[in-house]
Amino acid sequence: MVKIKTPAQIEGIRQSSRLAAEILNYLAGFIKPGLNTESLNQLAVKYIADHGAIAAPLNYGGFPKSICTSINDVVCHGIPSTKEVLKNGDIVNLDVTTILHGYFGDTSATYPVGQISPTATNLIKHTKISLDMAINALKPGKSLNECVGQVIEKYVTKFGYSPVRDLGGHGVGLKFHEDPFIYHYKNTIDDVTLKPGMIFTIEPMINASPDWRVTLDSHDNWTVRTRDGSLSAQFEHTILITDSGAEILTQI
Ligand code: MF3
Ligand code: CO
Ligand code: CO
Repeated sequence: MVKIKTPAQIEGIRQSSRLAAEILNYLAGFIKPGLNTESLNQLAVKYIADHGAIAAPLNYGGFPKSICTSINDVVCHGIPSTKEVLKNGDIVNLDVTTILHGYFGDTSATYPVGQISPTATNLIKHTKISLDMAINALKPGKSLNECVGQVIEKYVTKFGYSPVRDLGGHGVGLKFHEDPFIYHYKNTIDDVTLKPGMIFTIEPMINASPDWRVTLDSHDNWTVRTRDGSLSAQFEHTILITDSGAEILTQI
């Protein structure tokens, strides 16, 4: 069941989402070749604590760190490590989820490290555009998948890309992952009619190849990679459905 949030809940989720966006923006300023991803995690740990919040990923289903750092062919859920050093030409997604006064906000973005290839630049650009197009389509009374999955898939496949299918967006706010599951490809099985007060993430993971399939790292059981080794990019916002359209809660 998809919850309709109350005005008080919406305000709490708005505050948490804003903080998540601030953290993401703060972390992005440190990205450069030579930095290890655990340093980014440590910066997040301090910022989150200084602002009276909690990092939702830490210990979530056993996840060992406070943010996710996903480089190149890592689709999502990369684990920060001192052994993982950013290098010129990489792309890295940082995913931040906060709990502030009990409310959750979830956002991520993919950044270039130093000088990146035109291929990587285009992947980042079109992944971001696909998220923006989905957000712009949202309106109460419309079908969720018509606005999100269909729009994203139709757009990215034009470039020979594919939306990952095994993972998706989710309702968010009172818990980390709530109903509905948000498909980033055309799907009509369990569609939802949009209503004011719904809050969910849209977070397309786009592979730079027509192969949407992924693998799960058998050692850490978290890191998700593209099966064919191609690059993957992702952007994520927490979104509120309003009377007239949508409000991006993770925007600063
Ligand atoms: N932040 C991710 C999402 O967008 C979920 C991360 S789960 C974790 O849904 F355990 F890896 F943190
Ligand atoms: Co999310
Ligand atoms: Co996230």
